[in-house]
Amino acid sequence: MRKILAVLTVSLGLWSSCSKDGTTTNYTPTCNGTVKSYRTDVAPIISSACAGCHQNYSTYSQLYASRNSVRSQVVSGNMPRSGSLSTSQKDAIACWIDNGAPNN
Ligand code: HEC
Repeated sequence: MRKILAVLTVSLGLWSSCSKDGTTTNYTPTCNGTVKSYRTDVAPIISSACAGCHQNYSTYSQLYASRNSVRSQVVSGNMPRSGSLSTSQKDAIACWIDNGAPNN
């Protein structure tokens, strides 16, 4: 029993160390039917907050292909790895993706 507990404790510790600071909180974006634009809303955020580490997100087609994981990383607060996004920046990315991630 002790052994099992020890293994559990260690694996829980490893698991929680995967998130940036252990205080990852899932965030629910507020979209209110607004349509976000790839060019004017999303691309500038990606280029300033993500492209330094992820050059692969700098074109529309590559960002589109990764949209589901991008959305979950952004709303979980796990990305960006350095720095953070404001609420309105998270909304812009999540609402754009929820709207089908159009090339607009
Ligand atoms: C300081 C560097 C850095 C910045 C800035 C950064 N990332 Fe990351 N990102 C990483 C690293 C390193 C990994 C891989 C390790 C991991 O998943 O923890 C990663 C992983 C990811 C993944 C998971 C990829 C997969 O295969 O599932 C996504 C999605 C992602 N980042 C999106 C973003 C987005 C969106 C932004 C901007 C809001 C961003 N990242 C900013 C370093 C960064």
